[in-house]
Amino acid sequence: MTESLLSVRNLTTEFHLPDGRIARALEDVSFDVLPGQTIGLVGESGCGKTTTLMSVMRLLPASGRITAGHALFKGRDLMQLSEQQMRSVRWREMAIVFQGAMNALNPVMKVGDQIREPIELHNLMDRDAAEKRVGELLEMVGIQRSRRDQYPHQYSGGMRQRAMIAMALACSPSLLFADEPTTALDVMIQAQVLDLLKEIQKHLGLAIVMVTHDLGVVAEVCDSVVVMYGGKVAEYASADAIYNEPQHPYTRRLLASFPDLIRPSDTLASIPGTPPRLTDLPTGCRFHPRCDVKVEACDKETPVLKMIEEQSAEGGAIHCAACHLLHGEEAKFQ
Ligand SMILES: Nc1ncnc2c1ncn2[C@@H]1O[C@H](COP(=O)(O)OP(=O)(O)O)[C@@H](O)[C@H]1O
Ligand SMILES: [Mg+2]
Repeated sequence: MTESLLSVRNLTTEFHLPDGRIARALEDVSFDVLPGQTIGLVGESGCGKTTTLMSVMRLLPASGRITAGHALFKGRDLMQLSEQQMRSVRWREMAIVFQGAMNALNPVMKVGDQIREPIELHNLMDRDAAEKRVGELLEMVGIQRSRRDQYPHQYSGGMRQRAMIAMALACSPSLLFADEPTTALDVMIQAQVLDLLKEIQKHLGLAIVMVTHDLGVVAEVCDSVVVMYGGKVAEYASADAIYNEPQHPYTRRLLASFPDLIRPSDTLASIPGTPPRLTDLPTGCRFHPRCDVKVEACDKETPVLKMIEEQSAEGGAIHCAACHLLHGEEAKFQ
């Protein structure tokens, strides 16, 4: 079995709200990322996807606190590292393209200088070598070297997003987090950015955790998928299993609400209602108020993740889902 690059176990994160209340944004989140694999974190807005990445990177705002769980990266628990140690991991070994990143470039700094910054910050090479690397990175993401000295406003949205990807790759990380990397782009450009990520992954062999609310993106690039709902894992499986044998009612509803290129259907059913507010969580299963197959236990007991299929020999994701309608053993993560 392939050893995981990142093993997230029982990650639990809370935010202290200004009014004194505590919002538990993540509860008991577990999943694995194998080297060179792409894993999708999916779910509607507010389900905890960004918080998962920020918790693992230890980049939560001051109001956020990780109260339980581990994130083993290359055998080290990131939750136990000092901030100093964490700084040597961040960007060099794991990097992130933030949600909305393409609008986060510094408007008064040349794009090439911004890409060079992380390389210099980590003292990876001298000026000349760093400059050469900037050229390579630009080329890698499909931006002409001649545009190195231009400013962000001279770039299109897709180019700015690609520049952010170049910046994240500057120090050759083995794990890349991409938070909704295509959401703000138009459809043609979305496809280009996805192709770019796929290509980069093929060439560099890095692992990608892709956050998206778009199951079409997942189908195209992901090996396995974590479906999140209300800060918890609703279902976790290989992408194949998520598409062909979804077990959680929420996953099924998500799939039904997306246009499917393989099996087109004219009936796109959006999911009525909205995800729960964290300060006002329903009892029992968090999805039960919106679930059309709920049974008696659903508003009383919180369902545990049940094992549907053990890990495959190739080391693919186990298949587990948290629903009272499922039977079987509680899923155990190694
Ligand atoms: N800084 C914060 N302070 C308080 N609550 C937050 C903060 N950031 C996120 N949250 C809450 O955590 C939940 C998950 O948010 P987020 O991880 O951004 O979701 P997603 O990325 O899936 O849209 C949301 O309910 C959000 O309100
Ligand atoms: Mg988000």
